[in-house]
Amino acid sequence: MTRDHFDRPLRSLRLSVTDRCNLRCGYCMPEETYTWLPKPELLTFEEAAALVGALAPLGVDRVRLTGGEPLLRRNLPDLVASLSALGTLEDLALTTNAVRLDDFAAPLAAAGLGRITVSLDTLRADRFRHLTRRDELGNALRGIDAAAEAGFRGTKINAVVVRHENDDELVDLLAFARERDLEMRFIEYMDVGGATRWSMDAVVSAAEMLRRIGDALGTPEPIEPARTSAPADHFRLPDGQVFGIIASTTRPFCSGCDRARLTADGRFFTCLYAREGTALTPVLRQDGVDAAARLVSETWAGRRDRGAEERLAEAERAPLAQPDELRNAPHLEMHTRGG
Ligand code: GTP
Ligand code: 5AD
Ligand code: SF4
Repeated sequence: MTRDHFDRPLRSLRLSVTDRCNLRCGYCMPEETYTWLPKPELLTFEEAAALVGALAPLGVDRVRLTGGEPLLRRNLPDLVASLSALGTLEDLALTTNAVRLDDFAAPLAAAGLGRITVSLDTLRADRFRHLTRRDELGNALRGIDAAAEAGFRGTKINAVVVRHENDDELVDLLAFARERDLEMRFIEYMDVGGATRWSMDAVVSAAEMLRRIGDALGTPEPIEPARTSAPADHFRLPDGQVFGIIASTTRPFCSGCDRARLTADGRFFTCLYAREGTALTPVLRQDGVDAAARLVSETWAGRRDRGAEERLAEAERAPLAQPDELRNAPHLEMHTRGG
């Protein structure tokens, strides 16, 4: 197993399959225009699956498919089938906005996908339209139902909580999740690449979320263990409902970080906040998959980043990058590196 400078093992790979998205969430893609990755540079499914297989001896036994919106990549169930057939993965998951999930839930289940996390920030159609600049709430809700019908259990709903945007919906989202037996998780607004409108004022901290949920529903009790490598802290409400909070902004969890990310064009990043990545594609295409895996191993072994903790220590906190910089460096974008 590969370990870095802080003894963190590499276990989890977030594999972005496209940088495109069919929504325009204000905390992720607020601009009018974007620089997209050139399509010919995207890793093929064969390359991606071979690489994941070659990373197994390093310790990678969890893969999450991300985007942009991963269901925009053609024939995604084929990739799921290839990854599932490797036999090396303990966990194969997908993060999606669910807009196209109605069509894909059943084929994804048949291909061997293990679980699904849906990003959904509001239950109000007018607000969804305002927050995402697309009128797709109905399709997203149908997608969530389709996941249950296709047999997915333990589905999670991620909501990024932004002050004055959706912070009045904590209780409604919890009720929605309770009715459908979903795990609700609230995420603090993060100052990642792409979040060009971020400011500390817009962040609703985990502490504030807990206070507001407690006022309405009774005190949420923390569930042990308080911290694992998973970013969410879990709580139980008096009625028994369990939910999570991902406090990446005010209480980072870098010391337990066992995850790496690969962009759709094969650039390897250790940290969500990293400015530089390692281009794997040239090595993969010239020297083969084992050489690419060696490069991953060396890169992880040299890892010292703990981006969220470093940003917490900054006195004047501001967005990681400005729109001009992002246009020239799309790999800095959250929608390129997959969240
Ligand atoms: P599980 O495997 O189900 O726990 O999912 P996950 O939490 O790894 O994945 P998901 O895609 O649901 O990520 C949820 C949120 O956690 C993301 O939107 C980010 O806000 C945050 N997050 C995920 N990975 C990292 C990370 O490596 N570092 C930091 N700081 N935040 C992360
Ligand atoms: N802060 C927190 N979470 C974000 N995501 C995208 N941008 C941000 C941000 N600025 C989340 C999405 C999704 C996950 C993959 O990343 O909501 O749940
Ligand atoms: Fe891991 Fe970087 Fe996220 Fe910290 S900020 S948890 S080191 S990816």
